[in-house]
Amino acid sequence: MSEGLYPGSGALAPDSACQYEPMGAVVTSSAPHQTPAETPVLRLRVAALGMAATTIRAVELVSADGSPLPAFTAGSHINLKLPGDLSRSYSLTNGPQTTDRYTIAVNRDAASRGGSAYIAETLKVGDVLVADAPHNTFPLVEDAELTAMFAGGIGITPMLAMIRRIEALGRPWKLFYAARNRASAAFVAELQALEAAQPGRVHFHFDDEAGKVMPLLKLAAGVPKAAHVYCCGPSRMIDTFKASAGWRPPDNVHVEHFAGTNAKPTTAFTVVLKRQGREFYVPAGESIMQVLEDNGIAVAHSCREGVCGTCETRVLEGECDHKDNVLSAREREANGLIMICCSGAKSERLVLDI
Ligand code: FES
Repeated sequence: MSEGLYPGSGALAPDSACQYEPMGAVVTSSAPHQTPAETPVLRLRVAALGMAATTIRAVELVSADGSPLPAFTAGSHINLKLPGDLSRSYSLTNGPQTTDRYTIAVNRDAASRGGSAYIAETLKVGDVLVADAPHNTFPLVEDAELTAMFAGGIGITPMLAMIRRIEALGRPWKLFYAARNRASAAFVAELQALEAAQPGRVHFHFDDEAGKVMPLLKLAAGVPKAAHVYCCGPSRMIDTFKASAGWRPPDNVHVEHFAGTNAKPTTAFTVVLKRQGREFYVPAGESIMQVLEDNGIAVAHSCREGVCGTCETRVLEGECDHKDNVLSAREREANGLIMICCSGAKSERLVLDI
């Protein structure tokens, strides 16, 4: 499938991912996360802009100084630093085989706290943005017997990168894509072309035309048990998807959320920074990140609500009280990672690799 200019726009190929505004798409995936140990800072120049739907702007980013861009895997996102000290995460929509650029698609959120409004209204070709290297909390299992994706609205963005990758691998896939109406759906022409090339793979659902929301329970029931199933979209859609997937092997079910859980740890504890040789008291209801920042310790972050995975930190001792939407049940049980922007501890002390 083409990843070049996007028909009719004179600009970009529409391929972007879920976005955290700071609600983005967090992935609760049973596949291991790919976290860059040392995340390089990138300077990216806006090479092209286009519209992927009435409120979705497609952005193509290239290296500002011509140096090679870090490789990524399908399902990855990048954290962009935006004016006003904002950090926002957006899924990459291009396939990982495209190594000379990153493409994202950003929905102009009516309740924008700055990020999507800036990209929709102010960003122009030639601007240079700072970003972290791609990070994947929604990895694709590449050797699945079948990959079945359920996308809602801007949740199509990571799926597009996955489709590009699966197409390159020649593996079977299906997409169920729901949007309020045709005008708000992104990448429709491109997906229609894929469907025309091999019918039966793309199922569109437009609420206004159908007079109801997508019958996800019914559609998911028709997907074979051996398939790996993915969902990215609004919370209600994800809840329905999870309800539909109880009979599947947990490792075959992958979810990326737009928003955090809003839950807060209820117990006070002491956080120990092993490498720094320092420790701090974390009151009940406060985040480790906030306590560290209050003490002048900067930590990597983007969403601050347990969705993007940027603040993922290794746990050396102690029991976590997980409140994020990133880690899978298996990862929580392993107790080796914590999102320090939202999670706490059940033990009196929590020793971190900081
Ligand atoms: Fe996004 Fe913590 S900053 S998960």
